[in-house]
Amino acid sequence: MTLATHIVGVGGYLPERIVTNAELAARVDTSDQWIRERTGICQRHLAAEGECTSDLAAAAARKALKMAGISIEDIDALVVATTTPDLIFPSTAASVQSKLGGVGFPAWDIQAVCAGFVFGLAQLDAMMRAGMFKRVLLIGAETMSRILNWNDRSTCVLFGDGAGAVVLESRNRADGSGGVIGSVLHSDGAHRDLLKAHYGDGAPSNTPDFHTDAAGVAAIEMRGNEVFRIAVKSLSGVVGEVLAANGLTESEVDWLVPHQANLRIINAISKRLSLPAERVVITVGFHANTSAASVPLALSHLQETGKLERGQLLLLESFGAGFVWGANLVRWSL
Ligand SMILES: CC(C)(COP(=O)(O)OP(=O)(O)OC[C@H]1O[C@@H](n2cnc3c(N)ncnc32)[C@H](O)[C@@H]1OP(=O)(O)O)[C@@H](O)C(=O)NCCC(=O)NCCS
Repeated sequence: MTLATHIVGVGGYLPERIVTNAELAARVDTSDQWIRERTGICQRHLAAEGECTSDLAAAAARKALKMAGISIEDIDALVVATTTPDLIFPSTAASVQSKLGGVGFPAWDIQAVCAGFVFGLAQLDAMMRAGMFKRVLLIGAETMSRILNWNDRSTCVLFGDGAGAVVLESRNRADGSGGVIGSVLHSDGAHRDLLKAHYGDGAPSNTPDFHTDAAGVAAIEMRGNEVFRIAVKSLSGVVGEVLAANGLTESEVDWLVPHQANLRIINAISKRLSLPAERVVITVGFHANTSAASVPLALSHLQETGKLERGQLLLLESFGAGFVWGANLVRWSL
């Protein structure tokens, strides 16, 4: 029996609190105009005090389960893609499993920063096609606000908190066409210093006195200009690669569902694909870069607009620190 992995539910969650560009301009030397022109970002949502990545993830997962018309008892694996886990361990997925009332099925995190959801979809698709799981929850969730240096104007304006989730279901290919068609993933660790988040003076694994200095603060550091250039080049390459690998062309793409980091990067990729603006999902303006949550949040937004139709071809792509980058092709089947 040949199996295919279908997306049968999708949900997004953004914390209540909205922080506008004007509010940030009152804190650091920036302006609404600079942020909009350079990034397309107008506002971001920030998690409330005590609200963790797992809370955001569970909220998005509940919506995805509801759309799929199933409950947590029907799920047989749960994966959270995050770079801002609740704790170093146990995994955020373990917390989400508990918050959703699930028991027994495997739950684990994956760390591919902003590309975590795209990596997770590729990983789970392979496992599901091998027959390991029937129904899976894949969630991208982040509280990026907790690892930002709020005095660094070059990074604090770019990120936000949020979560997006999908329910994946494995079906016999003979029961209908559609589902995940294929994925391409890449990494290049040579660029790891261009975008990183350190913890105190280092990280849990390389700070000898970590246990005596538990008050270390995490913060993102980025050489934005270089990241921008490599992101455009890498994403342009991988979207072409995934289409060619699956015998498809740019003109067949109905929706580009890109990583929502910067409107100028998204525009460069849509131009590369010759896609008109109305075929590109853009949500970065209202939630900024939510890292692993950004692609499922964009997908959830697209689904909510009611424009998504059965048989349409979706191209998902993302790029993150490492660098890591990848793309998935999905034939919508609902
Ligand atoms: C961060 C980014 C928006 C900066 O835009 P840019 O056009 O590359 O701007 P530069 O970094 O060249 O900086 C230009 C100037 O703006 C200043 N600047 C940086 N942040 C600013 C802010 N928030 N407000 C006002 N000025 C700012 C810089 O200090 C610099 O000033 P200088 O010329 O006096 O030195 C852009 O590089 C980017 O989006 N990079 C990719 C980031 C990303 O997507 N990361 C996540 C990948 S998953």
